[in-house]
Formats: sequence, structure tokens, C-alpha cells
Amino acid sequence: MPARPIIIDTDPGQDDAVAILVALASPAELEVLAVTTVAGNVPLALTSENARKIRDLAGRPEVPVYAGCPRPILRPLRTAEKVHGPTGLDGADLPPPRAPLAEGHAVDFIVEALRAHPEPVTLATMGPLTNVALALIKAPDIAGRVREIVMMGGAVRGGNVTPVAEFNVYVDPHAARVVFESGVPIVMHGLDVTHKVITTPERLAAIRAIGTPVAEAAAGLLAFYDRRDLERYGAPGGPLHDPCVIAYLLAPGLFAGRRVHVAVVTDEGPALGQTVADWWGTTGRAPNALVVDRVDADGFYALLTERLARL
Ligand code: BDR
Ligand code: CA
Repeated sequence: MPARPIIIDTDPGQDDAVAILVALASPAELEVLAVTTVAGNVPLALTSENARKIRDLAGRPEVPVYAGCPRPILRPLRTAEKVHGPTGLDGADLPPPRAPLAEGHAVDFIVEALRAHPEPVTLATMGPLTNVALALIKAPDIAGRVREIVMMGGAVRGGNVTPVAEFNVYVDPHAARVVFESGVPIVMHGLDVTHKVITTPERLAAIRAIGTPVAEAAAGLLAFYDRRDLERYGAPGGPLHDPCVIAYLLAPGLFAGRRVHVAVVTDEGPALGQTVADWWGTTGRAPNALVVDRVDADGFYALLTERLARL
């Protein structure tokens, strides 16, 4: 099987960083055409710098990084330094990026890459969906060129920003709505699955025990990322969100879910940013997403650890 072409759209972020590392460690399965950045966990200048630091750490200087949108479509940007630290990559001391951003805007790159590639391209999204929504608005013809959008975003049973909304969807709910209404096949990894892959001390120790600079950095990032969640969720470790996207692309058999219709709430008020999943088919609306809610967590961490050891 030739490697599957993907574009990673992301707002690094420690969990984004680990996801990017795992993707770049897997060239036999995933051809990463580019990393595109968006404002989210931290402002765009930082997510764009962080993506390039991770590219350097992975030793993959040929993978271009394009900067995208500095703010959501309608709402003011809400960032998450309380979770990720002021840099977005607190927990690892990485040197400044060796190379600049690629020239051009991420939205234009996405449009051109989808049009130009001989086969449909997968969009692996790990942040607010601003870039992807604008690409679909700018060039509706690309919808048919997307193999699927495999995303981290949303929540069926409880949010992490509000009682019902997950961060990536909450930050740009209008973009998420454009994406869910686009007709492009979607695989949604929301909190319902990411809270089932807990970074326990044993799993973290297994990553650290690899003993390479990459593993040391990844373990540092994950340990920092965990620190609030241990208290907040009362679990033996924090949930690990964005790597679910890449693990699904590498080993879909680790995951299971249900094909349902998902609507995104864009009305101001307590439900803003909610992903309303029609679990029992009460609306009669055709499914627009595979909502993943089950995972083999040990298999997931074994895969992550094995891939990080390759870098
Ligand atoms: C999502 O929000 C960000 O903080 C993480 O990087 C992840 O993409 C989890 O809600
Ligand atoms: Ca993210």
C-alpha cells in the first residue's frame, strides 16, 4: 500500500506535538504533505513556531509548514495558556526553528494541494477548524478531493470548556459547522474517546524509557500537559487528545464508534460549541460523521511508544 497523503492542520500544543511526531515517524503509512497552523491553544505566531520546532525534532526538514488563520471566523480568539503554558510547548526545552515558514497561506495551500494531488487527500485536524472551513468556502470543488477529515474535536457527553463544548469546536463553532455541513466524510475523535486514553505514570515511563532526545522531549511535554488534568478529572493521568487522530490513521482497528448526524450549535448561549450527536437517530437526518467513542487504550499507547522510538 502506498503511503496515504495527509495534511495536518494543527495548533501546537503539547498533544498536537506528540501527534505530529508520531505522524512524521510513520512515512510508510502517512505521506505528510504539509503541516498547516491555526490559532488555538496559543496565538498563530506561536503555533507556527512550535510546528517548525517539532519538525526539526523529528528530523523532517522537508515537510513544509504553512501559517493559516490568526483568529476564528466570527468570534474573538480564545487561547488556552492555562493548559499548555505560555509557549504552548512548555515541558520541553526545544531550540528555535531552523527554517522559516513556507511561503503562502495555509488555506491556499490546502486548496491547491487538494486540487493537484492525483488521489484524494486526508485532512488530519487537531485544532479549531478555521483553515479547513475557509478552504471549503473558498473552493467548494475541493470537497470531492478530500478523502476524509479525521479530526480531534467535539464531545457527546460533556465538554472541557463549557459543560457541553470541547475546546477546538468552541473556539470556532462557525468553522466547525461549515465542516460538519460540508458533506465531506468525517471521523470525529471527541472527548468521549480521548478521555479513554489516559497518560498513566506507567505509560509515561515507557515513553521516557526509550531514552532518545525525542522521547525525552515527548515525555516532558506529556508530563507538563497532564499536570492540571490529574486534579481536574481525578484520573491517574490526563486524557491524550490529538494523537488519537494519527493513531486512527495508522491503526483504525484500535478504535470503534457509530455513524450519526452531528449538528454544531452556533447560537450564543450556554450550548455554544456543542456537538449534538443524534445517537439514536431521532431526527432522521443522514449520518455525517463517524463518532469514535471506544478505543483499545493499551494498544494505542503501545503504538505511540513504538513510533516515537523510531525517531
Ligand atoms: C483539544 O484542545 C486543545 O487544548 C488540545 O490540543 C486538543 O486539540 C482538546 O479539547
Ligand atoms: Ca490541538
